[in-house]
Formats: sequence, structure tokens, C-alpha cells
Amino acid sequence: MGRYLTSVNISFWVVLLLLQTHGFRGCLEKERIGLLKLKAFIESVSEGPDTTLITWVDGHERSNCCSWDRVKCNATTGRLMELSLSHARTRIPGTLFRICNLNISLFLPFEELVSLDLSDNAFGGWIDQTEGYTSFSSLKKLEKLDLTNNYFNTNIFSSFSQFKSLKTLIMPYNDLKGSFPINGSKGLLSLKKLEILDLNNNLLSSSTLSSLTAVTSLRTLILSNNNMEGSFPIQELIKLKNLEMLDLSGNRFNASIQGSNLQHLHISIVATNLSC
Ligand SMILES: *[C@@H]1O[C@H](CO)[C@@H](O)[C@H](O)[C@H]1NC(C)=O
Ligand SMILES: *[C@@H]1O[C@H](CO)[C@@H](O)[C@H](O)[C@H]1NC(C)=O
Ligand SMILES: *[C@@H]1O[C@H](CO)[C@@H](O)[C@H](O)[C@H]1NC(C)=O
Ligand SMILES: *[C@@H]1O[C@H](CO)[C@@H](O)[C@H](O)[C@H]1NC(C)=O
Repeated sequence: MGRYLTSVNISFWVVLLLLQTHGFRGCLEKERIGLLKLKAFIESVSEGPDTTLITWVDGHERSNCCSWDRVKCNATTGRLMELSLSHARTRIPGTLFRICNLNISLFLPFEELVSLDLSDNAFGGWIDQTEGYTSFSSLKKLEKLDLTNNYFNTNIFSSFSQFKSLKTLIMPYNDLKGSFPINGSKGLLSLKKLEILDLNNNLLSSSTLSSLTAVTSLRTLILSNNNMEGSFPIQELIKLKNLEMLDLSGNRFNASIQGSNLQHLHISIVATNLSC
């Protein structure tokens, strides 16, 4: 009985191995080299030990970058689909991160990327070798960008115009203050497919809502714990015809709400005058 089980077990592993080697093309050379350059960059801006990208190594058995941690490839094309650099920068325990800029030229090879996670890295801006910070325009298929817990300010929005396919933008805990600059609003306007925008825990003011009303594709808008106050912005919100979910909790609005088709609404209203 024991021997029977063992041989079943072995053939299972053999089949699995065959499936893996035959059903999967390796990663593209330029993406593998691109990832190794990205690793070198991350390590150059890390202060702690380089422990986060240890599977990203060149070498005979490890050269298929689709098998590396934090990477997911399309099984048919072998191209990178998902990349997570969340918490990739390291620091000496007990010390604060130095804010640094991310070299976005490093993303040029990853043309088929659908999801990019850059959260928790204390990045404060971009540097680029191309003029006008246009390197991101190679990410034509990017649908999800996560920048949670960095130090980006509202100027960064001007470069988002390159993300023509973006559906989800996640930016809680950044350095977004006040209202959007004009070039930032323009960047937002070109995000014609944006459905989910999460800007919670920043210091945005109520006037940002007028910039956001033009992003009519929005279905979910999260602006909780910002610095918004004054009368409730119902005129602005009514313009967002596709909005299904709105979170404005942790702000200081003071007036009433009427005539809206919202299905979920989370708000904090501090003043008393609640009559409709
Ligand atoms: C993989 O790429 C092919 C060809 O571009 C595409 O049709 C397919 O949807 C992709 N697979 C996934 C899971 O995205
Ligand atoms: C950014 O990355 C590109 C591509 O690897 C490289 O050519 C350039 O020198 C880098 N720039 C800086 C300032 O590190
Ligand atoms: C956007 O405008 C701000 C000032 O309003 C400026 O500092 C920033 O450099 C501009 N960004 C771009 C990419 O032009
Ligand atoms: C709400 O705040 C705005 C701006 O601070 C003020 O002009 C308005 O009178 C306030 N409305 C109420 C009902 O308190």
C-alpha cells in the first residue's frame, strides 16, 4: 500500500514537472534584463540589507523571470502582466526612510504590464531620461496602479495622462495637499477609463472635487480622511453620473444632501443643520 502511494506520488510530480516545462515559455530577455536593472536601482536606494528581491537572480536555472517572486506573466505570451515592488526598498530597522525619486525609465521594457504595485517605498517623485517624463507611456495596458504610502504630491498627476488604460488608481497615505494644480487636473482628465480612485488619508481640500467631476467614468471614489470642509458638494457629485460608491468620511462637511442616486455613502457631517 505504501509503495503504491509512493509511485502515484512520483508520477504526479513528473506530470507536474512536464506541464511546467512544456506549458510555459520563459520570460522575454529584455524583461529579464529590465527586472535586473530595476533590482539594481531598488538596492541602490535601500539602506537596509537587500532581502526583498533575492529570487531575482541571473543564472542557469533561475533565468526564467516569470518564476521570480513579485512577478506574474501571461502564460501564452510570456510577457510580464503583474509586478509588485511593494515594500521593496529596505531600511535599517528603527530609522526613517529617506525620500527618493523613482527612475521611471526602468519601466520601458514592460509594455504588457496590467498591474503595478509601488506601495510602501517612500518614493517622492519620478526621474526620467526622456523629456517630459514620458517613459510611462510605454505602459499602454496598465489598468491598476498602487502608490499607497509614498510621498507623492499633486504634481504627479500631470504624468498620469500617459496611462490611457488605467481603471484603478490607489494613492492613500501620500503627500497630496490642497487642490490639484492645473496640469494635474489635465492629467486626471485624460484618464478616460478610470473607475476606482482611492485618495484616502491625504490633505486634499474640498476644491479637488471640482477637478474630479470631469472624470465621469468614476464608479468608486474614496476621499476619506482628507482636509475637506464647508458645504456638502452635492452639485459636484451629481456630475459624476456613474458613481456608485463614495466615501467622504473623516472630513468636515457641514450641510445637507439631497437628490442623488448613490447606492453607498459614507460621510461625516459635523454641523447640525440636517434638514433637506
Ligand atoms: C495573455 O495574452 C493574450 C494575447 O495577448 C491575451 O489574449 C490573453 O487574454 C492574456 N491572458 C490574460 C490572463 O490576461
Ligand atoms: C534611469 O534608468 C535608465 C534605464 O536603465 C538609465 O539609463 C538612467 O541612467 C537612469 N537614470 C538615473 C538618474 O539613474
Ligand atoms: C505641474 O505644475 C507644477 C506647478 O503648478 C510644476 O511644479 C510642475 O513641474 C508641473 N509638472 C509638469 C510635468 O509640467
Ligand atoms: C458651511 O461652511 C461654509 C464654508 O465654511 C459656510 O459658508 C456655510 O455657511 C456653512 N453652512 C452651514 C449650514 O453651516
